[in-house]
Amino acid sequence: MPKQPTYTDAIALLKADHKTVDDLFAKFESATDAAAKEAIARQICTELKIHAAIEEEIFYPTFRGKIPDDMLDEAYVEHDGAKVLINDLEASSMADSFFEAKVTVLGEDIKHHVHEEEARGDGLFSACRVTGVDMIELKDKLLARKLELMEQAKAGPLPPAQLAVVKLAA
Ligand SMILES: [Fe+2]
Ligand SMILES: [Fe+2]
Repeated sequence: MPKQPTYTDAIALLKADHKTVDDLFAKFESATDAAAKEAIARQICTELKIHAAIEEEIFYPTFRGKIPDDMLDEAYVEHDGAKVLINDLEASSMADSFFEAKVTVLGEDIKHHVHEEEARGDGLFSACRVTGVDMIELKDKLLARKLELMEQAKAGPLPPAQLAVVKLAA
């Protein structure tokens, strides 16, 4: 297995994920070849599914009751909004209408969500930082799950992202 980068703590790991995805959206915008664009979009979807999973399974629950509920509640709703587009993109291709528009809007949604998490002072991560939770131990848990999901993604496409709180009409 390739050597994994080391992260100082849980927030550094999550911020590195944000940067990876931000770079991929920029790559998508500048790519001109349809096949390349589609491959980048697939990579974005996989990265985001893994990132959302580790936040929802491990990071967010750790801080429930320790930071304001509305911060966490909004994060779950924003994730679900993104997952609707992610699942849709994964089931379609560059040949489908609106594919590029969906990637672009997903990028805008993610930018907003990342800002809510990373904003200095009043962001979600800032609130988490002052709770006294051991961020190194939490990083180890996030990383272990991330590596597991990355292995799974290498073996074949991950299943569609499950919505956590949003209910879609049948
Ligand atoms: Fe995040
Ligand atoms: Fe998030």
